[in-house]
Amino acid sequence: RGGPGLVVAVDGPGGSGKSTVAKAVARRLGLRYLDTGAMYRAVTQLVLEQRVDLEDPQAVAELAERAVITPGTDPDAPTIAVNQVRVDAEIRTRAVTNAVSAVSAVVAVRARLVAQQRQIIAEAAQTGRGIVVEGRDIGSVVAPDAPVKVFLTASTEVRALRRSRELGEKGVDDVARTLAELDRRDVLDSTRKVDPLAVPKDAVTLDSTGMSVDEVVDVVLRHCAAAGFAP
Ligand code: DC
Repeated sequence: RGGPGLVVAVDGPGGSGKSTVAKAVARRLGLRYLDTGAMYRAVTQLVLEQRVDLEDPQAVAELAERAVITPGTDPDAPTIAVNQVRVDAEIRTRAVTNAVSAVSAVVAVRARLVAQQRQIIAEAAQTGRGIVVEGRDIGSVVAPDAPVKVFLTASTEVRALRRSRELGEKGVDDVARTLAELDRRDVLDSTRKVDPLAVPKDAVTLDSTGMSVDEVVDVVLRHCAAAGFAP
């Protein structure tokens, strides 16, 4: 297929199933995959490792400006490196998860990562078939011209259960704790001043609470087909 490739924006809160759906859609259509949350997590991991004060936006911004964040965009094996060091497991810890909202609220951090995300998207759309990008502000800020925009949601309980399972937790207490942390992060991510989590006006909203992964993927693929991109 000639011309620019497809850009699919997938936004939504934590545990909404974004990563699973975004990767599956990318695989089915032969597209690249970009996890922008992993980029914010990678900066956060560095902030914690270097013991930079989370409450000091200036210091966080300075550290982020010197850091080289490298996301791998293969949907079958997404990777993330900070200054050439892989941090795939490190960015998924509770410590990073609970600190990432503070780091992603720093304007300079967002400016830098958004610019890099736009470069990766442009490259994938110009030289390849395209890319599926997941995050909180993709359809609204990073790629407002994306022909397919999806906003994924699910009930808080279902999202907490999924997150908890991802973390390998088993107990009811763990789910309750994860739910509380998820709630806290939702509030922080939705109320921050810069580019808060919001439904882009031209996005398709999908509530995945009672849906299987395959059902959600099929709906997204149908929207891609309507935009002229079939598997
Ligand atoms: O999707 P995730 O849980 O890995 O995202 C981690 C955090 O990064 C999330 O709490 C908010 C932030 N984030 C953001 O501000 N903008 C994005 N495009 C993606 C993530």
